[in-house]
Amino acid sequence: MVKVGVNGFGRIGRLVTRAAVLSGKVQVVAINDPFIDLNYMVYMFKYDSTHGHFKGTVKAENGKLVINGHAITIFQERDPSNIKWADAGAEYVVESTGVFTTMEKAAADGPLKGILGYTEDQVVSCDFNGDSHSSTFDAGAGIALNDHFVKLVSWYDNEFGYSNRVVDLMVHMASKE
Ligand SMILES: NC(=O)c1ccc[n+]([C@@H]2O[C@H](COP(=O)([O-])OP(=O)(O)OC[C@H]3O[C@@H](n4cnc5c(N)ncnc54)[C@H](O)[C@@H]3O)[C@@H](O)[C@H]2O)c1
Repeated sequence: MVKVGVNGFGRIGRLVTRAAVLSGKVQVVAINDPFIDLNYMVYMFKYDSTHGHFKGTVKAENGKLVINGHAITIFQERDPSNIKWADAGAEYVVESTGVFTTMEKAAADGPLKGILGYTEDQVVSCDFNGDSHSSTFDAGAGIALNDHFVKLVSWYDNEFGYSNRVVDLMVHMASKE
């Protein structure tokens, strides 16, 4: 199990945490967000107007966020360099504040199974809510405007697809250690 910290518990921080729970390979052990208190973390993790209720248990207990029985250490620091991530057991930290953008992450090469999807169904955008693919090519929706200009249509859940790639990246990094 890869142990990670999450810096920033907004849309992406919460969905990375959900994706980590679903992955069974990544465990969130620490979360930092100076603008969201523990009780509000519980509420926002539990109820998501886009992705629905969390299908598991979440509560606040002894100053920790407890998800499916796993206690997560909570920090409320504006400056991430003050946080003792390693003491909380984190091997990696997901930067999901949108504030600290100087280090770039690069995705690894690999087969596109589970990443690029394909459909011939007549779908609309809400059919992809909660879809973990990065993109699903819609074979029937393309339009050839002329012989040289073809519009292709591909769908994705920008929050959950991205969050799943973050989890994949951490599993990949851990496998290369
Ligand atoms: N939302 C999307 O669909 C999406 C998709 C892909 C990538 N992203 C990227 O993910 C990042 C986060 O986006 P988001 O939509 O989750 O934003 P968000 O505003 O929902 O969440 C940001 C969180 O960071 C917290 N925060 C602010 N300053 C902080 C600090 N100093 N220390 C710790 N936490 C702090 C805020 O309280 C908030 O909870 C951005 O870089 C965004 O570009 C977002």
